Amino acid sequence: SKQRKELGLRTLEKPKMCVCTNPDQQADGITAKNLRFSYGKHRVLNIPSLCLPKGKVVALVGPNGAGKTTLARTLIGLAHPEGGSVISFSGKSCRAADRQKRSVLVMQDVNRQLFAETVATEVVLGNDNLSKEQVQALLGDLGLQGLSERHPMTLSGGQKQRLVIANALASQAELYVFDEPTSGVDYQHLLSISSQIRSLAAKDKAILIISHDLEFINEVADYQLLLQPLDSEINVQLTAPDQEKH
Ligand SMILES: Nc1ncnc2c1ncn2[C@@H]1O[C@H](COP(=O)(O)OP(=O)(O)OP(=O)(O)O)[C@@H](O)[C@H]1O
Ligand SMILES: [Mg+2]
Repeated sequence: SKQRKELGLRTLEKPKMCVCTNPDQQADGITAKNLRFSYGKHRVLNIPSLCLPKGKVVALVGPNGAGKTTLARTLIGLAHPEGGSVISFSGKSCRAADRQKRSVLVMQDVNRQLFAETVATEVVLGNDNLSKEQVQALLGDLGLQGLSERHPMTLSGGQKQRLVIANALASQAELYVFDEPTSGVDYQHLLSISSQIRSLAAKDKAILIISHDLEFINEVADYQLLLQPLDSEINVQLTAPDQEKH
């Protein structure tokens, strides 16, 4: 794998398996208890307990339709769970509006998340206290140097994606959710996105990444959380098989 990396090839290793820790032991992160969510009569989530520890990157995996996006949207306060569900930030139950303020979402469709007239302004949006130097450093780290004055919509797909990520990285949230952040990016950019996300983790943020990209998961994640489709009344299964750590 090291050799493949040197050759710039994308490697495939067995993904690290993971954890769904007991929220009582992890009051310090984002926790959910009795989390239930339904679209009308169709229940999608039924999760007895779940924890995203601070300072860790959790990869959320599972088949299409399992409810990954729904879970992410619920955690960040964009979707409302059923009564009785409790979502806490740092041990304190937290309402949807408050969760929204304390979270950042990078959606899969980046075209819907670019608003500014220039690349540099896009990075600063919502991040008022960022200096020019910090903006340039961030753009450089994500391979966007020299593009400051371009209109975001004139960038390539991969560049747009990294720009949305740059804006998210600069924000002062506690929970970061990335939905498929590496779709269509090459290996070098996969590495720079990984390293930026690792530096967010080093700042003690809780990070959830929805991804099918095993190589990216291997590179960036501490834990892998498997979400199974909810079969009628049966619980979502969150497996914690090997407990094999990073
Ligand atoms: N707005 C909606 N109204 C009704 N049902 C929905 C809605 N959004 C999603 N669903 C259903 O809820 C279930 C979970 O969807 P969700 O998009 O959360 O899954 P996912 O794991 O993110 O899937 P994918 O891997 O395809 O992105 C699916 O059965 C889906 O059809
Ligand atoms: Mg989805």
